[in-house]
Amino acid sequence: MQNISLLNNLNKFKQSPPNLLPSSRLIYGCMRIAGDNSAVDKDKGLKAIQAAIEAGYNHFDHADIYGAGQCEQLFGELLTHSSHLRDQLIITSKAGIRQSPQRYDFSHDYLIQSVEGSLKRLNTEYLDIFLLHRPDYLFNAQALAETFKQLKREGKVKYFGVSNFSPSQVSLLQSALDEPLIINQVEINLHNISSLQDGTLDQCQQLGITPVAWCPLGAVAYPAWGNTFSKDDEKRIKDEISKQATKYDVEAWQISLAWLLKHPANICPIIGSTTPSRINAAKQALTIDYSHEDWYHLLEARNGQPLP
Ligand SMILES: NC(=O)c1ccc[n+]([C@@H]2O[C@H](COP(=O)([O-])OP(=O)(O)OC[C@H]3O[C@@H](n4cnc5c(N)ncnc54)[C@H](OP(=O)(O)O)[C@@H]3O)[C@@H](O)[C@H]2O)c1
Repeated sequence: MQNISLLNNLNKFKQSPPNLLPSSRLIYGCMRIAGDNSAVDKDKGLKAIQAAIEAGYNHFDHADIYGAGQCEQLFGELLTHSSHLRDQLIITSKAGIRQSPQRYDFSHDYLIQSVEGSLKRLNTEYLDIFLLHRPDYLFNAQALAETFKQLKREGKVKYFGVSNFSPSQVSLLQSALDEPLIINQVEINLHNISSLQDGTLDQCQQLGITPVAWCPLGAVAYPAWGNTFSKDDEKRIKDEISKQATKYDVEAWQISLAWLLKHPANICPIIGSTTPSRINAAKQALTIDYSHEDWYHLLEARNGQPLP
C-alpha cells in the first residue's frame, strides 16, 4: 500500500512536531465495524480490521458516535489483546456531535470529555489525530484554540483536523491556532463534487491539508446520500464506468476510487466495507494509471452535458 505524509502544513510550528507515521493512502473507516452490536457482527468487524491491517492500511478512522461508542470499544478490545499494534497505527477519532437531541457542540468541557471517552474505549493514551466532526455554527475559534492546547499539553492528542468544514471555517479556525490543521474530512464521490467547486480542495493544496473522502463510493457501489440523480443519470454514469472498467480491467467501483485519487490534492479515500475481499481489492485502485481524458469523460457523464 502506498503511504503519504500528513505533515505538509507544519510551517506554523515553533517546537519540534510530534512523530506521526506516514498514512496509508487508503484509510479504513470504522463506522460499521460493530454492526448491530451482536456477537456475529462484532466478529465480522474484528475480521474486517484484521483484513485491513493485513492489506497494509495503517490509518483507522473513528468517531465517538459510531455505533454509539461500540465501534471504538471493539477496536479497543483488539488493542488490549494486541498492544504491539498501537505504535504501528494512526488512530483518528472525531467529536462535536452531541446526541439526543442532535446538536453540534464544540464547548470546551464537552470536547474534553468526548476525547477522554474515546481514549478509554479505544484503550489508548493518545489519539494521533482528533477531528471536529461537523462545524458547530456557534464555534469560537479562540476558545477552540485553548481546548486544543489543553488536549495537546496533556498528551491526549498529537494532531488536529476538521471534518465537513467549509474553506472559510478552516481559515477562521487555523488563524486562531498555533497548531496546523492537517486533515479536512469531507464527502467526496461522483455524486457530491462540491469540494471540487467550493474551494475545499484548492485550500487543501494551498495549505498542505490532506483531504480525506468519506463515502467515496456513493452513487456507484450504493445510492448517494441525498441522491439527486435520476434513473437516466445513473444509467449514463454506469455505462461510462463500465466502459472504463473494461478498459482498465478493474471493477466499476475501483474506477470511482481512481477518479478521486487522480486529483492533485492527494485525496485519501476512507474504505468502509466490512468485507475482507473488498477491503483488500480497494488497493487495486491505487495501481490504475487513470488518464486525464477518462477523468473528464466521467465528469461529463456525471453532469449529463459537455463542459461549457
Ligand atoms: N466525517 C463524516 O461526516 C463521515 C460520514 C460518513 C462516514 N464517514 C467515515 O467514512 C467511512 C466510509 O464511509 P462508508 O462506511 O459509507 O464507506 P463506503 O466504503 O463508502 O461504504 C461502505 C458500505 O458500502 C458497501 N460497499 C462497499 N463497497 C462496495 C461495493 N464494491 N459494492 C457494493 N457495496 C459496497 C459496504 O458493504 P459491505 O460492508 O457488505 O462490504 C458498506 O455497507 C466510515 O467508516 C467513516 O469512518 C465519515
